[in-house]
Amino acid sequence: MELKEPKTQEEFEGYYDLRWRILRYPWNQPRGSEKDSLEDMSIHLILTEEDKILGAGRVHFNSNDEAQVRYMAVEENQQGKGIGGKILSGLEERAKQRGTNYIVLNSRDTAVPFYIKKGYRIIGEAPTMFGTIKHSKMRKDL
Ligand SMILES: CC(C)(COP(=O)(O)OP(=O)(O)OC[C@H]1O[C@@H](n2cnc3c(N)ncnc32)[C@H](O)[C@@H]1OP(=O)(O)O)[C@@H](O)C(=O)NCCC(=O)NCCS
Repeated sequence: MELKEPKTQEEFEGYYDLRWRILRYPWNQPRGSEKDSLEDMSIHLILTEEDKILGAGRVHFNSNDEAQVRYMAVEENQQGKGIGGKILSGLEERAKQRGTNYIVLNSRDTAVPFYIKKGYRIIGEAPTMFGTIKHSKMRKDL
């Protein structure tokens, strides 16, 4: 397995496709809804095995101190095998290298236990998405 930043067009297409299939399609959200206006300013990571993308995630910077993780997604049949943890650690490492002091994220309620295991704590509520997915705001000091 290899943890790396997507570089080729094929890697970026596979990366956004995974984000859409895991995080948007189950809630009937159209293609394109898996992206926002910060893609060019973000650090993206994919975890691959023989060129197949098993998981991915993104971090962007809200200020010099604060980074935000978004779009953590692991292929359904690969969840629970440590892949998300590896991607999250990689994003944290890169944020730290840029001088970030802490990371925030908005977690779906179903993913909160994952982030707690990785050292995040709930600091408040975050907006509900697509009318149904409850979110909590979480933070980890680096
Ligand atoms: C949430 C997600 C990114 C986690 O990645 P993953 O590869 O499945 O998680 P890992 O295998 O690295 O888990 C790391 C630890 O968290 C625990 N964990 C992961 N998901 C969990 C869950 N839903 N409930 C309880 N514990 C969980 C694992 O048991 C593991 O514990 P361990 O270190 O004691 O073995 C992934 O499951 C996913 O893509 N889910 C669907 C999309 C999603 O919810 N994304 C997050 C949006 S905010």
